Amino acid sequence: MTVSAAELSAMARARELGAGVLGTTSPNPAVGAVVLAADGTPVGEGATAPPGGPHAEVRALEQAGERACGGTAVVTLEPCAHTGRTGPCADALLAAGVARVVVAVPEPTQLAGGGAARLRAAGVEVELGVAQQAAEEGALGAWLTGVREGRPFVVWKVAGTLDGRVAAADGSSRWVTGPDARAAVHRLRATCDAVVIGSGTALADDPQLTVRDADGRDAARQPLRVVLDRRRRLPRTARVLDDAAPTLVSTAASPRELLGELFARDVRRVLLEGGPTLAAAFLRDGLVDEAVVHLAPKLLGAGAPLVGDLGITGIGNALTLTVTGLTHLGGDVEIRLRPTRHTGDRRVADHHGATGGS
Ligand SMILES: NC(=O)c1ccc[n+]([C@@H]2O[C@H](COP(=O)([O-])OP(=O)(O)OC[C@H]3O[C@@H](n4cnc5c(N)ncnc54)[C@H](OP(=O)(O)O)[C@@H]3O)[C@@H](O)[C@H]2O)c1
Repeated sequence: MTVSAAELSAMARARELGAGVLGTTSPNPAVGAVVLAADGTPVGEGATAPPGGPHAEVRALEQAGERACGGTAVVTLEPCAHTGRTGPCADALLAAGVARVVVAVPEPTQLAGGGAARLRAAGVEVELGVAQQAAEEGALGAWLTGVREGRPFVVWKVAGTLDGRVAAADGSSRWVTGPDARAAVHRLRATCDAVVIGSGTALADDPQLTVRDADGRDAARQPLRVVLDRRRRLPRTARVLDDAAPTLVSTAASPRELLGELFARDVRRVLLEGGPTLAAAFLRDGLVDEAVVHLAPKLLGAGAPLVGDLGITGIGNALTLTVTGLTHLGGDVEIRLRPTRHTGDRRVADHHGATGGS
């Protein structure tokens, strides 16, 4: 495989573009694309529009215009060959006259597959699998989890003190972390299709769970708010039931059942915001794909723990995670992690309805 430095840097930009629309494209993948002119100069870029809108390649080609002719399209996901709500991207690339297509992730669904083959048959050079892992671990991760496991990707977010307390002994937990960390939580919510809490958190904190900007204004697009409340303890006056965003109060018996309900509603990326009892239930079932932990340099010495009982008694059985990122957020620290032991049920779907394709 021969890939130029310009193509690799275009692929890094395509990953960024995909990440920029995360949370707005479900059930479609958040794809990014860059078009390079024949001399390697970037002349167009695009990312997947909300469902029904144009795919990333089409947007990038529109921007490039005639400069795409004889050039290269760099895309995070193989261009689709099927007509869904929009036409096949492979045909759009052929019509624009691109000579070469560089792809990170080969299309995993049969429904939308065949794009590379169609392009090659028309004489276009296609490179598949370029910086594939980075793309799979980036904005495409949520959609790929849906394809492979038939469930949404789960990000568990928790804010705790140095000694791992998420609330003080009197139950107060509102200001564990500072304003920068809280703003980061709003940005994280915006990348998700649903935000999930247990009834314990709803009763203790009465959170609104909306996405708000730095001035406290509600964002135009709000994720679905979800409260797991099997005993129906949530009062009608709970703030999560206001009209600022849609809300689902679920009595699902298990995290897996809840994720099934959410998947059926086109949710592909879930933010699990607690609390410790529900987080433990997801972790026990192997249903956490990424963790975002905000640690405040404070000690409480007592209070609710970061996570409830995981049924682990020996250190040899500890649930181990790998640190993937470390950032200062004001006076607090954000640690991003991935569980190294994934017990999820891996299943490759052979067709994927309207959700296939770039
Ligand atoms: N600092 C933070 O980041 C943070 C975040 C969240 C919460 N908190 C704190 O955590 C405390 C609340 O903790 P919590 O553990 O009670 O809250 P929780 O985990 O949000 O809620 C627990 C409740 O969820 C319900 N649930 C539904 N399905 C479940 C399942 N499959 N497995 C387990 N539970 C399920 C159960 O009630 P039903 O049986 O009625 O369904 C259970 O009592 C509060 O003090 C809050 O301030 C802190």
